[in-house]
Amino acid sequence: MTGLALHVQGLVAGYTPEVDILRGIDIQVRRGEIVTVLGPNGAGKSTLIKAIAGLVPVRAGHVELFDEDITGVPTHLMTRRGLAYVPQTDNIFARLSIEENLQMGAYVEPDRTELKRRATRIYAVFPHLRERRRQAAGTLSGGERQMVAIGRALMAEPRLIMLDEPSAGLSPKMVGMVFAKLRDIREMGITILLVEQNAKAALAISDSACILAEGRDRIHGAARSLLDDPEVGALYLGMRGAAS
Ligand SMILES: Nc1ncnc2c1ncn2[C@@H]1O[C@H](COP(=O)(O)OP(=O)(O)OP(=O)(O)O)[C@@H](O)[C@H]1O
Ligand SMILES: [Mg+2]
Repeated sequence: MTGLALHVQGLVAGYTPEVDILRGIDIQVRRGEIVTVLGPNGAGKSTLIKAIAGLVPVRAGHVELFDEDITGVPTHLMTRRGLAYVPQTDNIFARLSIEENLQMGAYVEPDRTELKRRATRIYAVFPHLRERRRQAAGTLSGGERQMVAIGRALMAEPRLIMLDEPSAGLSPKMVGMVFAKLRDIREMGITILLVEQNAKAALAISDSACILAEGRDRIHGAARSLLDDPEVGALYLGMRGAAS
């Protein structure tokens, strides 16, 4: 018993048997925290999330979710274990309305009253989506789509939600909006594992972070200390000079 929300130990994983993309990853996420995984393109950030979610074969190591071993559990069973995953792209049904997208997030839930209750909870976080609930998701802005994708994942009432670059392609203003929502979601008691390129914005809302490079976790630290470390900033986060 570790009491952790997520405990990844010695994770080795890859898409084909010949090539290990993740070469021994250790990550700990405490309950109620926001933890960010940073790193350059191709470092293995998305692969890490996918391996945790059961979408990439794990060759060695363990993944524990709230002290339960979920290593190798098929993706469709992860939802029941309390894990939600918002992929970077293609994360909404463009032709369906916002409301229908949300319902798809809890398609195993047959009780309509319960579905309504969950949707109401999500609209409280995203009032903007309630106003447009009959609108096709494909007609929304990038930021709004991201909120639909997050809302859909929340419909399954996860205990831990993993998001792959929710800020990708968004304007700075929208990044701020989406990240503020992540804080609200954390306030709901949901633990968050975030993968990001936007180091500054992500660290600003995170408790701690880990930097991946070439399939290994290189640096762990409190978000604040990583943000303030000019060497880390320059080497890994693409921030030239001091992290001002
Ligand atoms: N479906 C796939 N099949 C085979 N190799 C893949 C696949 N997806 C990614 N890879 C490889 O795995 C490595 C890590 O990719 P990954 O997508 O995890 O990186 P990332 O850190 O998420 O990068 P980015 O910041 O660009 O999203 C890369 O070398 C990539 O070519
Ligand atoms: Mg990626």
